[in-house]
Amino acid sequence: MELRRLNLEDIQRLPHKSIEVVSTFEENNVNIPGNFVDASFLNAGGRNPEAIHDLKRATIETVANAIKHGNQFDINKKVNVFTTSSNGLFYVAIQDQGLGFDLDSCRDSAVEKYIPCSIGIHTDILCEGKGIKLITDIMDDVYNFCDNVAYFSKRIK
Ligand SMILES: Nc1ncnc2c1ncn2[C@@H]1O[C@H](COP(=O)(O)OP(=O)(O)OP(=O)(O)O)[C@@H](O)[C@H]1O
Ligand SMILES: [Mg+2]
Repeated sequence: MELRRLNLEDIQRLPHKSIEVVSTFEENNVNIPGNFVDASFLNAGGRNPEAIHDLKRATIETVANAIKHGNQFDINKKVNVFTTSSNGLFYVAIQDQGLGFDLDSCRDSAVEKYIPCSIGIHTDILCEGKGIKLITDIMDDVYNFCDNVAYFSKRIK
């Protein structure tokens, strides 16, 4: 079943929470939005510890992308994280100040390098491009609207 895809305006019209972080990986800056999202999920009634762990993981990966690819490490640029819940789904939107991107066309950009190991079996090593792949595996939906906001949603159980 297709899940409803809220955009940032939809989220901001609903009761929501938000946090702003600067574009640096220093001083646990990337962990702050992860913890913020965990607390918001709990607040919205999400009690599943595995889901909380996954949400934190997805948030950290997406904020890292926002800092790296979106804001290009410009410390004057901000990343904003928004959360809301609606119809049994918990939503996270992560906005940077970059030019925007098309998440669907980046989905398959993962570079898989196969290197032969000593016993002759090929081992696959994922290099760049693991982030969106991972997030897609652990969230119920991952999407964007070809701008500078990335979204994911998870069922509240
Ligand atoms: N916020 C963003 N702004 C612009 N481009 C983005 C953004 N987030 C992701 N992308 C694009 O999507 C691609 C895939 O992202 P993904 O997280 O899967 O891999 P990565 O960040 O390149 O590498 P890794 O996460 O494995 O270190 C990126 O290389 C980038 O081109
Ligand atoms: Mg990444």
